[in-house]
Amino acid sequence: MRVLGLETSCDETGVALYDTDAGLVAEALHSQVDLHAVYGGVVPEIASRDHIRRLLPLVLQVLDEAGGERPDAIAYTAGPGLVGALMVGSGLANGLGLSWGCPVIPVHHMEGHLLATMLDDDAPEFPFLALLVSGGHSMLVSVRELGHYEVLGTTLDDAAGEAFDKTAKLLGLPYPGGPALAQLAEKGDAGAYKLPRPMIHRPGFDFSFSGLKTAVMLKVRAAEAAGELDHRRADIAASFQQAVVETLVTRTLQAAVHTGATRIVIAGGVGANICLRGELERRFEGRVHYPRFEFCTDNGAMIALAGALRLADASDANDIRAQARWRLDSLQPPSQSTKTRL
Ligand code: KG4
Ligand code: ZN
Repeated sequence: MRVLGLETSCDETGVALYDTDAGLVAEALHSQVDLHAVYGGVVPEIASRDHIRRLLPLVLQVLDEAGGERPDAIAYTAGPGLVGALMVGSGLANGLGLSWGCPVIPVHHMEGHLLATMLDDDAPEFPFLALLVSGGHSMLVSVRELGHYEVLGTTLDDAAGEAFDKTAKLLGLPYPGGPALAQLAEKGDAGAYKLPRPMIHRPGFDFSFSGLKTAVMLKVRAAEAAGELDHRRADIAASFQQAVVETLVTRTLQAAVHTGATRIVIAGGVGANICLRGELERRFEGRVHYPRFEFCTDNGAMIALAGALRLADASDANDIRAQARWRLDSLQPPSQSTKTRL
């Protein structure tokens, strides 16, 4: 079975074709970063309009690369995300489904991130603990099996990626700030500034990053007032990154002890952070899995894969689903019939 995956939840237009026997067959991605950079963040209306321009040509390109055959099913990101952007993927998936007579599968964006490590040959087995850290979400999830997710903790304010992006902005780095800040941090001293490790001594597994952001703002202002900001930027970036990484890793290890997890999966855009990967590998005694760099940030391959694993949820194309909010723990495992078919 071949599943076409469409991702349009935010500022990347992603398309991929996944074969349940052969794996990932073809993929294409268009990033809107340049369009939004001038505004310092994603502008929803611009995002929707660019998805409209890019999505169909990318679908044709992927199908062409894969030999021109029509897929057996179309998976699309139905939420959570920007509702106008989601409508574009959902509208095209349902339109193509109707005209090709093939079923469609609405996919939860964060489930896509969660399963992205399974695009690799060395896929993690269930159960595992997942640290999902993206621009919009920070969550610790106990994954018992496909569709059985217990959210142990979540962010009370800024998501980890959002904290990276806002701090990068304070340091005068271009949008999206996460990768730029991580790059700058390589040249700095992570011990130069004393910054808080929020929440790590509190019970539970929630995160909070807004206090850390404020602490960094005060350091930036002090450095600016002393006329030192230019040569302190890298030290501030490194100290901030270290604080976020230590907070995420400490919380994840606490959750691993709580659940008895022997495998941890890091996913989402911040999962591309090398410092985070290294620190978790160093401190966790079990196995740490993470997706290939290109599958950490938004992409069509993870949606096509999630769709392939959820063929039982496929239905006739007549329901354009686009949900800005959608709880991950409201998902259910796919019906038994698919598991035997795959
Ligand atoms: O998963 P993603 O592509 O989009 C959402 O679903 O939100 O994540 C994007 C986020 C952005 O905040 C970006 O700055 C952050 O991931 N990010 C990073 C790195 N690469 C991307 N943050 C820290 N270090 C990185 N290397
Ligand atoms: Zn994402």
